Amino acid sequence: MRFLPSQSSEVQQPRPRELLYNLGGKRAILMPVSQAREIAPAARLENVRYAIRDLACIADEVARQGNKILPLNIGDPLNFDFQTPAHMIEAVYKAMRDGKNGYSSSSGIPPALDAIRGEAARKGITNIQDVFVTSGVSETVDICLTALLNPGDNLLTPCPDYPLYSAVLAKLEIGLNTYYLNEEDGWQPDLDDIKKKITPRTRGIVLINPNNPTGSVCTRKMLEQIAELARRHNLIVFADEIYDKLIIDRETQDDDPHIAMAAVAPDLPVITFGGLSKNYLAPGWRIGWGIASGEASVIKPYLEGVNKLLRARLCANHPEQYAIKPALEGPQDHLLEVKRKLRSRRDLTMKWCAETSRVSCVAPRGAFYAYPRIDIPEGDDVFVTELIRQKHVMVVHGSGFGQRPGTKHFRIVFLPDEKTLTAAYSAIGDFMRERYA
Ligand SMILES: Cc1ncc(COP(=O)(O)O)c(C=O)c1O
Repeated sequence: MRFLPSQSSEVQQPRPRELLYNLGGKRAILMPVSQAREIAPAARLENVRYAIRDLACIADEVARQGNKILPLNIGDPLNFDFQTPAHMIEAVYKAMRDGKNGYSSSSGIPPALDAIRGEAARKGITNIQDVFVTSGVSETVDICLTALLNPGDNLLTPCPDYPLYSAVLAKLEIGLNTYYLNEEDGWQPDLDDIKKKITPRTRGIVLINPNNPTGSVCTRKMLEQIAELARRHNLIVFADEIYDKLIIDRETQDDDPHIAMAAVAPDLPVITFGGLSKNYLAPGWRIGWGIASGEASVIKPYLEGVNKLLRARLCANHPEQYAIKPALEGPQDHLLEVKRKLRSRRDLTMKWCAETSRVSCVAPRGAFYAYPRIDIPEGDDVFVTELIRQKHVMVVHGSGFGQRPGTKHFRIVFLPDEKTLTAAYSAIGDFMRERYA
């Protein structure tokens, strides 16, 4: 016997988009089957961009067609021949086994905070007013900017910049106020431009040193000059020094040429950002920190705001915090090996840039990025998307980081081994010859 739908005219059919719910036979209510209006994201997200990962949709499409993508877009050493130091892994494993799996205090665990203070002292940072651990420097940035800025304020950020800063500012509905890095001056900050851009509502300045995406490293003189401007205009400095141990233009580890902004200006309100993602090859653990220094009376009220936000998000990843002390105080051997590899890969990158027509590049001195300039008759965003589609090599367009009008660039992550990089550069060279000959 087959059950046919009732044809009876007495049974009322649910109206379109509505369904009868019977609550225990007592009463029936009408519920919409699906909501009539779409759930729109907040309008302020319109300007939130993160070029480094936004390209993923195109790469996915190319990968679905069976192609292997070579990712030179994301600064994750673990995608290549780099490994998190074993003693750090042991420390996290032990912490988990020892039951350190609950929440920690909001600022972070005491041994980690002590180790960060010790590291700051080794870098010549004095006048420390606070230290806190976060879920990556990404969270430090989010908290520090959110705690500072009111509607109508602005923050000086570099152009080109690491796009997280502009994404957080967009989220806070704070308009961009960028200062140029000067390509003709080895990508040092353009002081005249900074002076021009300071307004009565400028609250601070972001300095990324060593820099992403250019690999430049600030000179002491530059730091002193920026500090002087900050003093004069009452600015806080956010010194993003997440790559400070990856200076690759020298052979020896002892001869540390990185100069911390906070060490140059102990009186100035500075938050120094650091973490385990890059120097210590553990980006997936999401461990970063902030070191607040400067005159106590000047910076304390702001730090109360920072701590309010730190408490509201409970804490950073707890077991991973147990790797901070062994990382900062334990063997640093991995750094020699990492810098040796990076130096060789940077040199290979520079050789390719020098030999390839339409390409020129300021040699990076730190981190693992190069930011070559390209002389092409179309936008660098088109260059990058077509490169993914045609040669399956993924780099990031300069317009995703910001650049002076009329110039075009792309960012290369030179983390892969020499063989992989050679293949990538040969593919990019072929692409350029075929497209722009
Ligand atoms: C300059 C800079 N700051 C911050 C971050 C974010 O680091 P984290 O992994 O600690 O969130 C990155 C990541 O690439 C970076 O390049």
